[in-house]
Amino acid sequence: MNRRRFLGATAALSSASALANTTGKPALLGGAPVKLEGSRKWPIFDQTEEKALLEVLRSGQWYRGSGNAVRNFEQKYEQLTGAKYCLATSSGTSALLTSLSAMGVTAGDEVILPPYTFVATLNVILEKHAMPIFVDSDPETFQMNARKLDAAITPRTKAIIPVHMAGAPVNLDAILATAARHGVPVLEDACQAHLGEWRDRKVGTYGLAGCFSFQASKNLNSGEGGAVLTADSDFFQRCSAFHNNSHSSHGGASSAFDLYHAPGLNLRMTEFQAALLVAQMTRLEEQYKIRESNARYLTSLLKEIPGIIPARLHDGCTRNAWHLYMLRYDKSKFANLPRARFLKALAAEGVPASSGYTPLNKASLIQTAFASRGFQRVFAEADFKNWAARNHCPDNDQLCEDAVWFTQTVLLGPRADMDRIAEAMRKIQNHAHALA
Ligand SMILES: Cc1ncc(COP(=O)(O)O)c(C=O)c1O
Repeated sequence: MNRRRFLGATAALSSASALANTTGKPALLGGAPVKLEGSRKWPIFDQTEEKALLEVLRSGQWYRGSGNAVRNFEQKYEQLTGAKYCLATSSGTSALLTSLSAMGVTAGDEVILPPYTFVATLNVILEKHAMPIFVDSDPETFQMNARKLDAAITPRTKAIIPVHMAGAPVNLDAILATAARHGVPVLEDACQAHLGEWRDRKVGTYGLAGCFSFQASKNLNSGEGGAVLTADSDFFQRCSAFHNNSHSSHGGASSAFDLYHAPGLNLRMTEFQAALLVAQMTRLEEQYKIRESNARYLTSLLKEIPGIIPARLHDGCTRNAWHLYMLRYDKSKFANLPRARFLKALAAEGVPASSGYTPLNKASLIQTAFASRGFQRVFAEADFKNWAARNHCPDNDQLCEDAVWFTQTVLLGPRADMDRIAEAMRKIQNHAHALA
């Protein structure tokens, strides 16, 4: 049997066995769990990473500028993404902070972001004593609703941060056009979107800046780490100086000490992180292919289950980085079984899933920041009063109630695991009354 026939036969077999078990009892009611077979082990590494780390260790050149690892990584990431400049940083958060700083975002400004994102996107704005302005989510794609962006922009808006949530590109055509019309720079938060593409070009290369995270859960991982991409050389120089305590060259102790033109911080990547990233990058494309193939297959299965609605991709998306697999759960098609109970039933099946983000525009840390002396000094009473009305995001509120996520490690499992996920959901649906 040739490979294609074999794969076809095994796929048919696994679908058939999944169907045969559809009427089986959910594990939560005493039935046999479907149990995913994939190990979901993360990170994945071998002697390549060990050798790379040992080389740096033995060289004694552990910090940026003493060795070549960080610059080597930047060059490789430039090649991989097609970016003109890459600046490695200590984390995704520091990449975002570096970019906002180099854009000149400061106290009293407004910065636009989506409410469906990791808290770091918000924290860097508050750190600048700028006011976060949230643009509601599009429930179908889980991304910033580009149609609502224009109305959120004011003369105070100094940056727009669309987030390529879960690795899927936002509607860059619409967001970039709106931003350009208002003359506001775009900072792409691509922290979850390594290798993601919009119209065959890597995300993170469209805005003035594109920021990435290499934190432990990410598809490209060095424990902690980040990067800023840009095509603008002046902006790159400002980023470089900011992340290197105001030094205009990003060398180490030997660099010039007379060029403190603007405030900065130490947000440099270490040689260890960079060496690890170069090794991990050799796995990225292959892992992407597995995730992509499994995700497509999973979508084809889940689309057939009433009440399970996989996140839609924008037409311009030519590559989803698949950091997460996101879907909406419509409990009305599951005898009103609450999402928490649905997730519990999935967990009992050996299918790990989570409920994802809570509405970031409602996080109490915003009010804590607003109550601080810094914010109180810079903004007027009316700014705080009007904020809640300006930042009402009803679609996102609903999305946060309905969302279900799988991590990228689930997508690295065998194809039959996708059948098992669908099987688990069908079992739960068929017994939803009993589970409720
Ligand atoms: C969308 C988004 N933005 C920013 C960050 C911050 O990156 P880091 O954890 O590397 O600081 C993350 C990381 O989880 C993220 O997912």
